[in-house]
Amino acid sequence: METILITGASRGIGLALVEEYLEAGSFYVFATCRAPETASELQTLVSSYPDHAKLIQLDISDMASIRASVAAVSAHTNALDVLINNGAVYPPSEGTRTFGALNMDELTDVMQVNAVAPLIVTQSYADLLRTSKNPRVVMVSSEMGSMQWTKSGGSYAYRMSKAAMNMTARTLAMDENLADAIVITTHPGNVITKMSGLTTGMMPRESASGLVKVIASLTSSDNGKFYQWDGSEHIW
Ligand SMILES: NC(=O)c1ccc[n+]([C@@H]2O[C@H](COP(=O)([O-])OP(=O)(O)OC[C@H]3O[C@@H](n4cnc5c(N)ncnc54)[C@H](OP(=O)(O)O)[C@@H]3O)[C@@H](O)[C@H]2O)c1
Repeated sequence: METILITGASRGIGLALVEEYLEAGSFYVFATCRAPETASELQTLVSSYPDHAKLIQLDISDMASIRASVAAVSAHTNALDVLINNGAVYPPSEGTRTFGALNMDELTDVMQVNAVAPLIVTQSYADLLRTSKNPRVVMVSSEMGSMQWTKSGGSYAYRMSKAAMNMTARTLAMDENLADAIVITTHPGNVITKMSGLTTGMMPRESASGLVKVIASLTSSDNGKFYQWDGSEHIW
């Protein structure tokens, strides 16, 4: 059974990814989130699949939490096949978005969660990934991290952080220290979630279903690429 770890699984696309993998039936999912005690939907889902899922506390911006999560996962398996770095923030504050009101601490906080943390989480899970026969690391990034796609100002922290995440994926893909792992970055589409605030667009399950198909079809020739949820390549 392939093992999958998903960060930020309390809601939105992360929760939908857990649902997709568990309904598929042939995966063991480490569903991680910052506050398991309040993640009631995730708790209910995981408890319905006691042989296929474990709920683990993981605040990706907290090193002690990352270490404790690695220990908890290691108690169940010696190999992680797929790491999905999904958890992220997109604060509505002017201090992260609007030129003229930008705030050093607020910008830095977003960079830490969205760009630095996924790299450190990946490094922390590297031993478990190296033990897998087919390790894959997936960044749930955004079109907003694409230089070529960007046609307007604003949203500085989020755009900068997702651009950095894309570069992280590209660099990890070339890094011999991560052995033979296939590393990709992705845009999940415009999805109706708390973060996006969209009222029209894809439901999380549609996006997650596409991402699961993309991940299932990865080969070494995909290493370092930027994919959309539907399997098409995204511009950088
Ligand atoms: N929705 C879209 O249209 C869209 C478009 C492009 C990219 N994306 C990307 O898709 C991913 C999922 O976003 P979403 O739309 O599903 O948003 P969402 O519903 O707001 O979910 C974000 C998730 O990230 C978690 N998170 C935040 N900070 C965390 C931390 N420090 N440690 C662990 N988890 C943390 C949240 O957990 P808590 O419950 O603890 O806050 C939540 O589970 C993100 O990477 C986002 O940038 C989304």
